Amino acid sequence: MIAQSIKNKFVSFFQNDPRIIRSPGRINMIGEHTDYNEGFVMPAAIDKEIVCAINRNKTNSCTLIASDLDETHRFDLDNLQKSDKGWPNYILGVVEQFQKKGLEIHGFDCVFGGDIPLGAGLSSSAAVECAIAFALNELYGHNLSKIELVKLSQAAENQFVGVNCGIMDQFASMHGKADQIFRLDCKTLEFEYFNFILEDYRLVLCDTQVKHSLASSEYNTRRQECEAGVTILQKHYPEIHSLREVNINQLKSHENEFDPVTFKRCKYVVEEIARVLDCCELLKKGDLVSFGQNMFKTHEGLSKDYEVSCKELDFLKDQAVASGLVVGARMMGGGFGGCTLNMVKIHEVDNFIQSMTKAFKAKLGLDLKTYLVNIVNGTSKL
Ligand code: GLA
Repeated sequence: MIAQSIKNKFVSFFQNDPRIIRSPGRINMIGEHTDYNEGFVMPAAIDKEIVCAINRNKTNSCTLIASDLDETHRFDLDNLQKSDKGWPNYILGVVEQFQKKGLEIHGFDCVFGGDIPLGAGLSSSAAVECAIAFALNELYGHNLSKIELVKLSQAAENQFVGVNCGIMDQFASMHGKADQIFRLDCKTLEFEYFNFILEDYRLVLCDTQVKHSLASSEYNTRRQECEAGVTILQKHYPEIHSLREVNINQLKSHENEFDPVTFKRCKYVVEEIARVLDCCELLKKGDLVSFGQNMFKTHEGLSKDYEVSCKELDFLKDQAVASGLVVGARMMGGGFGGCTLNMVKIHEVDNFIQSMTKAFKAKLGLDLKTYLVNIVNGTSKL
């Protein structure tokens, strides 16, 4: 449906037949703020996606149309400039990465749109980057692998957009598989899929619609705090270069050398990396109840130790627990707003959505948005 309307728009603007590429948003079951610490994450791609219609245009300039925003941006390939509009930068950043690698790109036109809610922490920006990287790779026959496209998309976000994110979001958008979640080792980029066919539960996202301006500056601060912790530990363990390589006993035995804030940041990360590995074992045993317990612990850690939650997210998690209708619930993604992820008992989904919506309105006076999500394949051509 979305694909057809994006294609129609392209054809009516540019009068030729485009390629159609889709790239999904992501959830993360567990492993939050661990990717940039070379730890493990456990994400999946979801059935909310960006669709892009794209074709060459025989010039050296490009026209981009953001269908949902009804905005157009034109640029010259010889002169990439950051745009105040915001959204073109995800595409410009990808183009710049192809150029930096010496991979030739000529003029193209592109219409894109989709149904990933913006600012909800579902990685719409990574989905745009992955869709464009995949499309340009196809359009100009560069034969980059999916892993290379993921790295290129992350570099676009780091270098052009200026957000120092880890690799999880782009990886999940590109490598998702229907009904599977995967454990990604963010140090080696090895990954393993796990069946995730939920018989007794459904995944429901509760969207606070809160967008804190603090999010990206605090994100970068958390990264620096983790790096500061590594520097302290390196005096004793010179071989380490990330929190991934530290266990909780090593960390605790040097607690008196840390300031309390840096210590609790590092403690959260080390514990969270261990929780991901524990969850892999639990999944193999089909023990989703214990998996859910780990999700509650992750929320506690993110809220109290890592301090990236906010009152709306804390309320939603507490309310989900109090409802008795979930087996696991936690805030998800970078934090300071966005969504909670809930594993809801399958016959209670309607009840859950109604009771959460009512409680959110009563307590905070805000309208809650909820999304029932399914796990789908990563970036592909349609
Ligand atoms: C954002 C970043 C990711 C990751 C998460 C937290 O989504 O883009 O790289 O760090 O936050 O887990």
